Amino acid sequence: MKILAFESTCDETAVAVVEDGRKILSDQVFSQADLHAVYGGVVPEIASRCHVESISLLTERALETAGIERKDIDAVAVSYAPGLIGAVLVGVNFAKAAALALGVPLIPVHHIRGHIAANYLAYPELEPPFLCLAISGGNTLLVDVKDYTDMEILGQTRDDAAGECFDKTARVLGLPYPGGKPIDELSRGGDDTKYVFPIGHVADHPYDMSFSGLKTAVINLVHNAEQKGEELDRASLAASFTRAVSESLVPRTIAAAKEKGRNTLVVAGGVAANSRIRADFKAAAEREGLRLYIPPLKLCGDNGAMIGAQGYYEYLAGTRAGSDLNACATMDLNASYGG
Ligand code: KG4
Repeated sequence: MKILAFESTCDETAVAVVEDGRKILSDQVFSQADLHAVYGGVVPEIASRCHVESISLLTERALETAGIERKDIDAVAVSYAPGLIGAVLVGVNFAKAAALALGVPLIPVHHIRGHIAANYLAYPELEPPFLCLAISGGNTLLVDVKDYTDMEILGQTRDDAAGECFDKTARVLGLPYPGGKPIDELSRGGDDTKYVFPIGHVADHPYDMSFSGLKTAVINLVHNAEQKGEELDRASLAASFTRAVSESLVPRTIAAAKEKGRNTLVVAGGVAANSRIRADFKAAAEREGLRLYIPPLKLCGDNGAMIGAQGYYEYLAGTRAGSDLNACATMDLNASYGG
């Protein structure tokens, strides 16, 4: 079954063709990051306008690269929540028109379910159940994935997402947006014990996380140093910061896997591209005897293929969007479509 999939929840316009949820026939991603970099973050209206400009061309390219014709498409899938509402609306409206024109079913996909499903594309043997940490620019969730469309949220951030914390730290250090990759590069060779940063805990909720205290601690450290005219060891600051993020994420994920009796761990989302976090997960999984899956870098960030992958399993579960499908800025990972 060939699914034409759309993703436009933030600053990537992405269109893909995926076969049977596992095989990428084409994956076209246009990142708007350079457009937003001058503002230090995503400007919603610019994102929406840019999606409008690029989505038609990307769709043509996706079909061409996949080597298929319109009549070969069996269904259309679209990321319809959560995200920047004006941005999500572009993909939703385009996908609705595409499904109508092609006369095929329309499948609504939760963006974070898509991130999790990116792993199905990279690892053919991976099947639920597993324990997943989804870490992106807007979301940080610990999820027990019982089945392809049956998930339980065990914990989540109470404030900033992990990716947001990377982006704000980068900004205060004068690094470009999005800041995760520049921080990752800066931290190499740094001493991760030089600066001590707080690791957030939420009383009575061991799997919930908090990153705003860490963000504030970095901002205060940088501003105090600037006021005193002191020079900071930027590489060590980036390394110490990343260590604090990793220590917020890795032990919690391992503990949750143990509690749920899962022996497979999956990490997903843009922050899963971080070299330190990947290495820490690898070491912890080896130590605990758990199987670990993290997508290749290309599939960590937003892409259309992940929506096509999850779209396939949503289709098998019977999920279909009606002609009234709308975009949603926020949505629980478990909310059923229309519910
Ligand atoms: O999943 P994603 O592309 O978009 C959302 O769905 O939010 O994630 C984007 C986030 C940004 O915050 C970006 O700074 C972060 O992923 N990111 C990284 C790295 N590469 C991207 N964070 C840490 N280390 C990286 N290497």
